Amino acid sequence: MSIEKVAVIGSGLMGHGIAQVAAMSGQTVVLIDKSEDALAFARQKMGDSLKRLAEKGRIKDTPEAVLGRIRTTSSLADGVRDAQYVVEAVFEDINLKRNLLAEVEAHAPKDTILGTNTSGLSIQAISGKVKNKEKVIGMHWMNPPQLMKLVEIIKSNKTDDATLQTTLDLCTRYGKETVISQRDVWFFLAARARVGFSIENCAMQLAGVADHRTLDAVTRYKIGLPMGEFELLDFTGAVDIRPKGLASVEEILKEHPDYEPWPEFRNAYTYLAKEVWADMAAKGLSGVKTGKGFYEYPGKKYVKPDIPKELADKVDPVQLMAPALNAAAWCVTHGVGSVEDVNKSMRLAFGWPKGIFDYIPDYGIAKIIEVLNAKEKAAPHWLHGFYRVDPLLANWKS
Ligand SMILES: NC(=O)c1ccc[n+]([C@@H]2O[C@H](COP(=O)([O-])OP(=O)(O)OC[C@H]3O[C@@H](n4cnc5c(N)ncnc54)[C@H](O)[C@@H]3O)[C@@H](O)[C@H]2O)c1
Repeated sequence: MSIEKVAVIGSGLMGHGIAQVAAMSGQTVVLIDKSEDALAFARQKMGDSLKRLAEKGRIKDTPEAVLGRIRTTSSLADGVRDAQYVVEAVFEDINLKRNLLAEVEAHAPKDTILGTNTSGLSIQAISGKVKNKEKVIGMHWMNPPQLMKLVEIIKSNKTDDATLQTTLDLCTRYGKETVISQRDVWFFLAARARVGFSIENCAMQLAGVADHRTLDAVTRYKIGLPMGEFELLDFTGAVDIRPKGLASVEEILKEHPDYEPWPEFRNAYTYLAKEVWADMAAKGLSGVKTGKGFYEYPGKKYVKPDIPKELADKVDPVQLMAPALNAAAWCVTHGVGSVEDVNKSMRLAFGWPKGIFDYIPDYGIAKIIEVLNAKEKAAPHWLHGFYRVDPLLANWKS
């Protein structure tokens, strides 16, 4: 089925980018938000982005022509009335998303596909109040949608093959590559495979092993990632989004306990979300969007933090990478995705120069296991068991 009419709900950080990509592909787009201010700001951001892309010769139409294909409205019923495909990108809140999709279904044509750009809430739970559950699918874009190459696709236990195929075709039309998460678990495949890296950065900072700037220096200059973890937390506003997301995760787990099958991971993440990130968000330290996080962003504008290269010599990168590899290995061992798909996700979703498992030869598997065992012995209560060596690493053949 050729999709020509798309509606995007939520015009924030993600929604405006998704709407722009759809319009760039020639589709007619309705961008919906309950806030008129958000819609006005979204139109301005799309205009700025299109201008930059045009200057680099990366769009074939003029910015005006692309913008002309995007209509904005604060009325959900009006916005979805003839949409063939809807992508919701509202706040990461299970009840909001669950109720919203049911409302969309009530106003959209019968066959409309309902995509959700959740960062990691259960697709099965999000489709809970929709009648036509086969039409609901996870379509997880990366930030910023205009630039990042990957879209991760997640089926619920009810999503049908036609919905999956249409979604894959849509991503191809948008010039995106895809990975399919094989399980509808918390954070799915891409972010889940990466989240160990995030947890370990925070764990080392909290333990006082190194400050955020030093750890970011190691990540940038030794591991070779485009951004350090603390830069990324600031860039995405994660200290605000993650604790809010956790409240939804806890609610989902009451109905779907299989949604989080790794208790030690849940403990570690929950501790950070409740004891560290929520506190930062409450103090207005959510990163670029509040003007200050781990680093400062005058005028709430992103500026790349200044991080001296010498700091990178202070910490051995394997200290960060061993736990990151262990958490990525969990995904493979537990059937969320293959080594190849995990590697692809790291490169295309997060701009890693190579797949995470491609780092194993750099440190050697024996050293990685030694680091994990040492961390397991010294782990604070909230990390107990988190470093237990995954069978994939234990049996890794170099
Ligand atoms: N920020 C990221 O890096 C990122 C990456 C991938 C996925 N996501 C996911 O995308 C979704 C949106 O994230 P974001 O960062 O763009 O959030 P955001 O806060 O920037 O934007 C959310 C928008 O949704 C609007 N909204 C809220 N309730 C609404 C409703 N009932 N009807 C219409 N509009 C409504 C808000 O007014 C706001 O403009 C979340 O589920 C998030 O987890 C975010």
